[in-house]
Amino acid sequence: MLAHEAEMLQRLWFPVARLQDLESDRPVGGALLGKRVVVYRSSAGVIVALDRCPHRGARLSLGRMSEGTLECAYHGWRWGHDGACALVPSQPEVHSNATLELLPVQERFGLVWTSLEATLTTPPSIPEMEHDTGGGWEVELGEWFDVGCGLRSITENFRDSSHFAFVHRAAFGDVNPAMGAYTVHAEGRRLSWEIALTFGSPWSVRDGDDGQAPKYRFGESSDNGPGTDAPAEMLLKYRFEMPALSYVYTEHEGGGRRLVCQAAAPTGLDGRSCRVFFFVAANSEFRRQNGPLSAQVELEARIFAEDVPIVESLDPPDAPLELQGQAHVRADRYSIAYRKLYEEMLNEFRSSRQHQPAGADWK
Ligand code: FES
Ligand SMILES: [Fe+2]
Repeated sequence: MLAHEAEMLQRLWFPVARLQDLESDRPVGGALLGKRVVVYRSSAGVIVALDRCPHRGARLSLGRMSEGTLECAYHGWRWGHDGACALVPSQPEVHSNATLELLPVQERFGLVWTSLEATLTTPPSIPEMEHDTGGGWEVELGEWFDVGCGLRSITENFRDSSHFAFVHRAAFGDVNPAMGAYTVHAEGRRLSWEIALTFGSPWSVRDGDDGQAPKYRFGESSDNGPGTDAPAEMLLKYRFEMPALSYVYTEHEGGGRRLVCQAAAPTGLDGRSCRVFFFVAANSEFRRQNGPLSAQVELEARIFAEDVPIVESLDPPDAPLELQGQAHVRADRYSIAYRKLYEEMLNEFRSSRQHQPAGADWK
């Protein structure tokens, strides 16, 4: 990863933990851009800090929660309100100068977001859900995945529709891989585009297919049984916000609304290590028609597991910004728009660094 790219990413928001994992008696460990972080819920709210005890440097994520404080596993020092030292058991009293190295925190979509340096932007948003206040939306998160590829590669993969017929045949059944023309709209740091795909079409990717592959209606219950559905066209509304939030939003008959979202974070500086969080969100009408979201989350996890060996095989491991060296077709139009936007953001950042003192605001 280029130095100025790392410097830019250090100033952006990334997810590091699920809120639901902070209710146990264990803190949650994570990593962002080569730094280990610890996440826990203190009496003052959620804390994200560098995963290093100020006493002797033990990894705080090995500790445990005790009376609303985080207790280090080595000598039992406790860290609580705003990362301040709450107890030194060997004295016993507090060490008033010792505090954790705190990072900024935002809670959004059931995830804890942070940034290694002073942040330059707000965390990403999902207007379709956040502005639909009467819809009764619920979010259900899956288990996260650690994947051995770059941030751009995993982000491109989520929004790539032309791989469904090949990588996700087990999950989707037949999907017609043909893709018509589509336009990618760019607005600020967001990209949007829409693609109509036919699921359950008679088209088969394999010779000798017996036609019994399960037919999947995108975003709807997969309990309809194998081969019972007529081909169904779905309009997939793709949305993306820099640097790595992607979702596909669908509108269903009767007012159901649903989206699947991926939020990735670069755990290392090597351009080949990411932690990928994902969730399914739906309004109350969608859940009324299709049942609880847990089955959909389980299906999405299976779909994502099908992607992992492919994205981990990519060479180079992170999607190159320059277009030469790879072959591009119409279906890759969004990837090209994404790489262009990413490069613009890098250039904007680099020039702002040349013309402004460190720490100056950058929009
Ligand atoms: S290293 Fe954490 S209490 Fe000593
Ligand atoms: Fe995929």
